[in-house]
Amino acid sequence: MASSGMDLTDVRATMLRTLHLRALDANSPAPVLGDRYAAEAVRRIDYDWGRLAKRGLANDCYAVALRANRFDDLAAGFLRRHADAAVIDLGCGLDSRAFRLAPGSGVRWFDIDLPEVVELRRRLYADGDGYRMLAGSATDPRWLRELPSDGPTLVIIEGLLMYLSPAANRELFRRLTEHRTTGEIVFDGVAPWVAAKSRVLKRCFPRWHRAPAYLTSQRDYPGIIAETPGLRQITDVGVLTDTHRAPDPSVRRYYGLLGKVAAIENWMRVFRTAF
Ligand SMILES: C[S@@+](CC[C@H](N)C(=O)[O-])C[C@H]1O[C@@H](n2cnc3c(N)ncnc32)[C@H](O)[C@@H]1O
Repeated sequence: MASSGMDLTDVRATMLRTLHLRALDANSPAPVLGDRYAAEAVRRIDYDWGRLAKRGLANDCYAVALRANRFDDLAAGFLRRHADAAVIDLGCGLDSRAFRLAPGSGVRWFDIDLPEVVELRRRLYADGDGYRMLAGSATDPRWLRELPSDGPTLVIIEGLLMYLSPAANRELFRRLTEHRTTGEIVFDGVAPWVAAKSRVLKRCFPRWHRAPAYLTSQRDYPGIIAETPGLRQITDVGVLTDTHRAPDPSVRRYYGLLGKVAAIENWMRVFRTAF
């Protein structure tokens, strides 16, 4: 059994929460995503998963599954159009997208995260044909040099940009689009009120609010996109507007109601950009 060895105050441990939520979805009677790899990983990692039981949208298994589903759809669409694509999943955590989507043999897929996360990941998964894991930080340009720079590229960044400063995100986008010739960057962002709330909670109740604060919100993205040469936005969709994907009618009703409140509907959005 692999041991996580991570503390929840650490940004690296945020991937345990999303993994756990995908596993809860997978084990529910009517899953939205049905990520069997997540359920298996939770079984194999020695961690006190009960510590993660918290309320709120960010801790709701269906909300996290809806977000993953939207990213999966965007990735699957890109791979249908580009059978020879390179895919970079930055801040991949223990996510199994590369296995869920099972891309064709022409695709080169790179899962990238901080060294300790990749070390844990390697205990669950192995590099294979067209699939590699790389240890590196989004703020460090070195790992990009290990990647090919030819052909169409899809960069997936799910659940990471909010933990970096707007300046670090600007720099990351600039490096990504400079290194690659053409492609898309898909990423998510929290509403400004969600980011502000996380910072206040972190400042006022650091022992209770253990997760790292959000430093970047949706409000910062127009500037980041505008300042990235050649990058343009294609779509921007609220995760909770995908309610129809939930097979369980009570889950659909619950999200349908939440989605009617503009501020909540805005809670988490997924952006698709191209360069
Ligand atoms: C909320 S988790 C999301 C993980 C995964 N994408 C998912 O949806 O389950 C955030 C991830 O970003 C990673 N991360 C945080 N800072 C990073 C950095 N500077 N460079 C690369 N990855 C980072 C964390 O280690 C963690 O795996």
